This record gives sequence, C-alpha cells and structure tokens, in this order.
Amino acid sequence: MRKHLFALGGASLLLGVSLLAAQAQTVPPTTPPDPPKFDAQGTPNFVGIGDIYEYRTLPAYNEPEYVKAFEAAGKLPPLVDRLPKEPMVFKSTNMPDGIGVYGDVMRHVIGGRPEGWNYMAGQSQGWGGIDIGTMECLTRTALLYEVKAEDLAPMPNLAMSWEWSEDGHKLTMHLVEGAKWSDGVEFTSEDAIFYWEDNVVDPNVTPLNGASPEMFGEGTTLEAPDKYTLVWTFKEAFPRQYLYQMAYGNFCPGPAHIFKPLHPKYKAGATYDEYKNAIKPEYMNIPVMGAWVPVEYRPDDIVVLRRNPYYWKVDDQGNQLPYLNEVQYRLSTWADRDVQAVAGTGDFSNLEQAESYVEALKRSADPNAPARLAFGARTIGYTLYPNLSGNGWGEPDERQQAIRELNRNEDFRKAVTYALDRQRLGEALVKGPFTAIYPGGLYAGTTYYDKDSTVYYPYSLEDAKALLEKAGLKDTDGNGVVNFPAGTAGGADVEVTLLANADYQTDKNLAEGVIAMMEPLGIRVIANFLTGTQHDATYQSGKFDWRVARNGSELISVVQNTTALAPTGPQVSGSHRAGTDGTLDLLPWEKDLVDTVNAFIATDDTAKRLDLMKTYQKIYTENLFGIGLTQYPGALIINKRFANIPAGAPIFMFNWAEDNIIRERVFVPADKQQGYELHPDTLPGEPGSAGPVKL
Ligand code: GLA
Repeated sequence: MRKHLFALGGASLLLGVSLLAAQAQTVPPTTPPDPPKFDAQGTPNFVGIGDIYEYRTLPAYNEPEYVKAFEAAGKLPPLVDRLPKEPMVFKSTNMPDGIGVYGDVMRHVIGGRPEGWNYMAGQSQGWGGIDIGTMECLTRTALLYEVKAEDLAPMPNLAMSWEWSEDGHKLTMHLVEGAKWSDGVEFTSEDAIFYWEDNVVDPNVTPLNGASPEMFGEGTTLEAPDKYTLVWTFKEAFPRQYLYQMAYGNFCPGPAHIFKPLHPKYKAGATYDEYKNAIKPEYMNIPVMGAWVPVEYRPDDIVVLRRNPYYWKVDDQGNQLPYLNEVQYRLSTWADRDVQAVAGTGDFSNLEQAESYVEALKRSADPNAPARLAFGARTIGYTLYPNLSGNGWGEPDERQQAIRELNRNEDFRKAVTYALDRQRLGEALVKGPFTAIYPGGLYAGTTYYDKDSTVYYPYSLEDAKALLEKAGLKDTDGNGVVNFPAGTAGGADVEVTLLANADYQTDKNLAEGVIAMMEPLGIRVIANFLTGTQHDATYQSGKFDWRVARNGSELISVVQNTTALAPTGPQVSGSHRAGTDGTLDLLPWEKDLVDTVNAFIATDDTAKRLDLMKTYQKIYTENLFGIGLTQYPGALIINKRFANIPAGAPIFMFNWAEDNIIRERVFVPADKQQGYELHPDTLPGEPGSAGPVKL
C-alpha cells in the first residue's frame, strides 16, 4: 500500500538520494506528512524590544513595607544604594495587568534535585526554574517570542548595551553599573572573566549547560579593561549570532567572590572535583543576581527562595522587583507538577509529558478550575541520537566500538529509521491531534523549516531489514537477533544500550517504543534509564550507544545555540564530541553540516540564511544525524490568581516558560493573595548562614 507514496510526492527530493539505494527500497524516502491541524491558544502581542524595558535612573524607589523596616533598623542599606545607577526599568505599558503589588508566592513542583550551587562547574540546581530564577545572563532571549520579526535580536540584561568596532571583530559590552549580588557585593567584569577563563575556557570545568569556548567562535577572547566593560575579540566579522549564546544557559556568571577562592587555580591543593562540589545544596543564601535567593532546603521535600533585596530591576514607578516575595519548589516528580498545577496545590507547570494531556485538559475545562491551561505550537520534540564518535569519546570497549562503527554506517542508520513507526510512537503517548511525525532536524511550523528539504523515511520493516543486511548484519545463529560479522566483536548478537532520562515518563515511554520496534528488525536494545543528574553526566561523558532525548531550543529557533546544530567544536554536540586525541572524526556529510552552520553564523543575509537552513535540513534528515521520533505542543498551566502573564507565552521556545512569563513582574492582586509564604517578613541571610533572617 505504502508503495504508492513515491507517486504522491517527493520526486524532486529523491534526486539527492543515491539512485542505487532508492532502487533497492520498496518505500522510497519522501517528504513528511503535514502535521495534523492543532491551533495554538493565544498569540503574543508583538512589540519592539524597547517597549519592554530600558535602563534609567528614576526620581524615587519603593519596596515592600517589611523590607523598609529592615532599612529603618539599620540592617540593610537604603534602597537607592542597593540599586544600580541606572536599574533595568520594566515599562508598565507592556505589562498585561499593569503595575503590581507585593506579596504571595509561586509554588513550583519539580522532578529534579539540587546537586549544589556551582552551576558554573556543572552542578544542577534541580531545574524547573530554580536555575532560571537565580541565574542572570549577559543577554536575554526568552522574551523574543513576543518581539516583532524586524526587531529580533538578543536583548540586553547584565550587559546593558554594546557596540561593534568598525571592522566587526571587537564587541564592547557595558555592564549595568553598580548592580549587586544578593549579599550586597558588587557585580563586576571580574565575575564575567572568572566565569569565562576559569570555567568555560578551563578544560577541566564544564558549566551546567555545557558552555564551551567554541560556542562563541574559534579563537574568541574576552578581556575586561575596567570594572564595567567587557571586550570580545572574534576571528569573524560581526558574528552577531554569539549574542544569543550569552543568554540563559551559556553566559550567566556566578559569584566570583564565593567561587574563585575555591578554584584550583587560586586555592593550593584543591582538586577540580572539590571545586565543583564544595557548595552543597545545604549551603543557604548563596549570592545570586536573580530575583530570589535560596534560604531553605530539605532533601526530597522543598527548596524555598526569598526576594533578593539587591535585585537590580524596577517597574517604571520605581517599585523594586520582584513583586512576589517568595518562590517554592516542592521536590517531587515532573508528572506530579502537572497534577498539582491542575489541582491548584501547585501554581505552575510546563505541560510537556503528553501522557497527561487528556486528563489535564478535561480538568482544566471546568470554569471553576483553579488553573488556566493554554497550548502553544509543537515545540516539544524527541530524537534518537546515535553516538557518532568513532575515535574514543566515552572510551568504548570492543562491543561498544563495534556499535559506534554501525552508528557511522549510513545503511545502518537508515535501517533503524525505517523500522520506526512514528505514528504509533506518537499515539502511544497520547491519542488525538497532538503528536506529529517528526523525521528529525528543524521542526515543522517553525521559521526555518522547509518541508521540501526534509527527507522522511516512512515506516517499512521490509526496507529496514534489507538495509541491515546491506550493512553486513545477519542473524547467523537463528535466535532472532542479528550478529556482527565473524571478525567483529566475536560475531556476537548486536546489542545496543539506549540511554534515557528516567525522571520523565515520556522519555521512558519513547525509549521503550524504540526498543520494541527494533525487536522485529533483529536489534536487541537494552534500556539504560538513569535519573536526571546521572543521565546528564553519562551522556556528557559520551558513555552511550544510543540516546533518546528531548531536543534543545536550537532546533526551534535556529538562532539560539546555533553552534549546537552540528558538531561545530570538539565539545559542542550532544552526540558527537572529540575522541581521546582531542579531534573530531567527522563523517563527510557531518563536515558539510558543520560548514553549513558556520556559513549561517557568518552571514546576516536573510535569504542566504533561509537557504542555508534548507541545506542543513536536507543533510541532517537525509543522513540521519539524529533520528527524529515525535513532535507535539506543550501547554502552560498557571494558577488563575496570577496577573501579568503575557498572552501566548510558549512553554518552550528561546527558553522555558519560567523565563517567558517574566516572573519578576508577575504578581497576585491584593484580594487574591494567599497565606502561602513559608518565611513571611524575612530576607536572605549572610552567604552560608543557616537560613533567612527576621527583624
Ligand atoms: C526542566 C523541565 C522544563 C523546565 C526546565 C527549566 O527541564 O522539564 O519544563 O521547567 O526544567 O529549566
């Protein structure tokens, strides 16, 4: 039946596919079917960047009454001295409900667990927005979902302005002057330089989201001529793209005054491991530039954060932000986040695990439901990533090395993709118009996606089997599992381990779907499901054959984390990093992929960029850099008592919804405030002290 697909379309596309292979296939590659119609709810009110915030001095400032009392008692410097010379000023004209009032809490529920506070050295704070709420970065991109296309460029944040040298090789950035960490110590270029030199550039340290120097261009340097100035020097001219890398995840400095004295370069005898793990989650009041400071932690129970009295952002009437006095994170499971948000015992969820959609929708449809639920575009996607390193990344043993060779074999990857019934994979998560067939690469429905450049290998077990045989694999002992050729791994059964993050039901379900679909093909896949932190450490160190993973923002926006679209540097890609000798053994088409991404970064020409992404998509999907699985929409669930939630805030685009909703300006109107504060009338204490302080 499926044989007719060729006649229906995709003929032009086939020209690029090897003629021989096409002839051998009963179901030739084609373009993917259009995703089922599914309308996003709510569209953003598009604005210019300057409409959201600016930096300026205001005649007077205001703060919550209880904080004023600390000031009056001499326990806190006057507000004007805690704020920068020119604070970031949010314009009330851009606030959906206008100027807010102080008080109340946002109660989050998360499935992650904090490992400690040194995210600069790779420790996770537990995700779910603790990360986003405590880290501030040189630029901010989350809000670009509501910025007009003609204005699309990273927004200032800790860097309040910047200019390019005439030749475009130098970028001078001006930091917010007089902004302070939550303990009152000034934030300066020293923090940025410590982050860069001793964390990003130091090969012994890997920051939480994997920032590496090549993400900012090969040979890029960073210097600080004075306290408030940073100067970047790039090999390329005007690589504006890198301003996106300076946003959430990759350039959010931690407090140098806390971490520098612990770093092996400055502390005699200290090891890198000690540096990474010195500041445990029990350490309270870690200085942050974010709106809230961790003041309480109980393992497997809760993390509580209180307002940062030094926060450097205000509204245009001079009220210091945030409006919310506290944020809480119940340490539970990601699935529980959905359940609690819908039930009203939690306040927020990124509904992203498709298994709970029907129930969540049903319960939110009740007009008396405590939370509102709004679906966005299909920006949640999953890919099966074969580990493509053939030269030792992750130090594979003989069997694992034999799998790497298979992963690098085109026929093998094609066999795998042909054996996947994506329709069924999606429906196993949730029935209805949610999931779409996803061949891999850029997502249908996003700016740079081009259907005609997308190669899709429809489900065909017959073709899969033929290709596996072409790859040299046969079931020689008749046990239903194909064997390596006699000379490889002792002719053993082909057994592949599949890494997935066990904190998410969806990740496990999709991985199990893959395992089941490989069985009739004769490939035995063994689950390696690990909890979040173990999972992250395992894939970062290359210790996997295959991995099923939720995709990053680069496949949605393209302009964010662009370098991560291909193995553009030794440590950049999630599935192909440098081997033991420090080199990347790229396959010829991977080299083309890298060149395409680099050409994209090097040009500002819109038409060229669109074209380059067509080429990228073609190379990616034809050669299966990653094997796409499914793509579906996420929904933002938020309790109805919150005001200033922007229309059309996606759960995931340039960043997660915890950033997209601009939490620092979210508030609860006085008549809706609840007594949820666990530490009312307190402020963060001294770094390392036991908890928050009361007057
Ligand atoms: C996890 C969650 C996401 C989001 C991010 C924030 O990855 O699954 O929904 O909350 O953390 O970092």
